[in-house]
Amino acid sequence: MKKNREKAISLLYEHVESNSLIKHALAVEASMRGYAKHFGEDVEYWGIVGLLHDLDYEKYPDKHPEEGIKILKKEGYPESLINAVMGHVDSMNTPRLTKMARTLYAVDELSSFVIACVLVRPTKFEGLKVKSIKKKLKDKAFARAVDRDQILMSAEELGIEITEHIQIIINSLSEREKELVKINLSLI
Ligand SMILES: [Fe+2]
Ligand SMILES: [Fe+2]
Repeated sequence: MKKNREKAISLLYEHVESNSLIKHALAVEASMRGYAKHFGEDVEYWGIVGLLHDLDYEKYPDKHPEEGIKILKKEGYPESLINAVMGHVDSMNTPRLTKMARTLYAVDELSSFVIACVLVRPTKFEGLKVKSIKKKLKDKAFARAVDRDQILMSAEELGIEITEHIQIIINSLSEREKELVKINLSLI
């Protein structure tokens, strides 16, 4: 089992050049780590799933996540990580077998959405409340690429109430503010 963050980071940089995709991976990592703490699970491992879930997106956007899965299998990553990566893409029709897989699905879009909200705030994370994220979710013109229904349905699947879900993500991301809000994140 490969659970080493350094190895995952070097694999990520080997396959991804885009700064925005790297930032997205780091944001999803931060949320996965926050959720692992919340659930009392393996923080390092859940973080790695976040780091690697879009590994192939830059080179193979049309074959995502299949190309990534090939790389991750070759690198010896365990079945539970493979399932989570498969499960975060709807077109794969892969049942999300673990809480880790359901968490990845629930934090993927919302992590980038929260960062997008933070970037338009003068005070960034300082004083950021759940209700202002909810307000932006209702504003269909803001970050319109983000699928609001997916955010709500994935939180329900995870069994977490949306207010708590957004709060956990805010907390997780704000710990990494310096890394995450320096430049814009793509909304993947
Ligand atoms: Fe993806
Ligand atoms: Fe993603």
